[in-house]
Amino acid sequence: MNHYTLLDSGHGRKLERFGDYTLDRPCAQAVWKPTHPELWDTADAAFSRKDGLEWRGRSNLPDSWEATVEGVRMKLATTDFGHLGVFPETRDLWHWIRQTIQTQSKTRKEPLNFLNLFAYSGGATLAAAQAGAHCCHVDASKGMVSWARENASLNNLKDHPIRWIVDDVNKFLQREARRSRSYDAILLDPPSFGRGKSGELYKIEQALLETLKHVKDVLSNQPAFVYLTSHTPGFTPTVLSNLLHQVLPNGNLEQGEMLLRGEKNVLSVPCGTWSRWIA
Ligand SMILES: C[S@@+](CC[C@H](N)C(=O)[O-])C[C@H]1O[C@@H](n2cnc3c(N)ncnc32)[C@H](O)[C@@H]1O
Repeated sequence: MNHYTLLDSGHGRKLERFGDYTLDRPCAQAVWKPTHPELWDTADAAFSRKDGLEWRGRSNLPDSWEATVEGVRMKLATTDFGHLGVFPETRDLWHWIRQTIQTQSKTRKEPLNFLNLFAYSGGATLAAAQAGAHCCHVDASKGMVSWARENASLNNLKDHPIRWIVDDVNKFLQREARRSRSYDAILLDPPSFGRGKSGELYKIEQALLETLKHVKDVLSNQPAFVYLTSHTPGFTPTVLSNLLHQVLPNGNLEQGEMLLRGEKNVLSVPCGTWSRWIA
């Protein structure tokens, strides 16, 4: 099967199957011991940060390949930082977004407008598009937006209404507010530290509250949800919920830990936090 599977974790590493290839990569949280030690020899390649950033067995992998993650076909390629073009721990979120948009769409006359900020390779954008939402995908990296567009083609969504924007998130949101553009559902996954299109510094501690205020300014008058995720140490579920509570009008807040789940008998790996505001 051409799918993603978490096979095991432990001793600071995780073993994952991405379609045809098995990869062994760092995972600082996995301080426990592996549950399935016999599987680890099956890795086609391994990434390490011990003596600088280094792939072992990279030549066993093609330049790019494909795997299906939560019903979305994704192009994968090894990057020098050990990333592959997908963060599989966001699978549960894609699932929730797809289900919620499908349910909401039944009671709306117009397609729901979905905005994905810090949108990377587009998994969430494409899950929302599969559910029928009109989408706007924003990332400061031109290369990542091209990668996301390739993923749209792989999923036969090339002609679906998706706006592809290369821009700094805060600048983009202010411009959209000036133009009175609005969105019914918004996802944001801000990095701890990032750079906008023209090198603008994004440091989550200073920038996030401002981003959320701008998010509020572009929320439609028939909102569905705002979904905030974080991988920044110290940004616990309560931190995210407190921020949403201060910025958004009355609604329900839910929060939790982002988990990279395996099949039966495979330990889950915590990979961040989330909070969502539901209108
Ligand atoms: C951690 S990744 C997001 C992962 C993604 N949400 C997913 O689930 O696949 C962070 C992304 O934010 C983008 N980024 C960083 N700073 C930015 C900024 N100021 N404005 C827009 N995008 C930014 C990066 O290019 C990168 O693609």
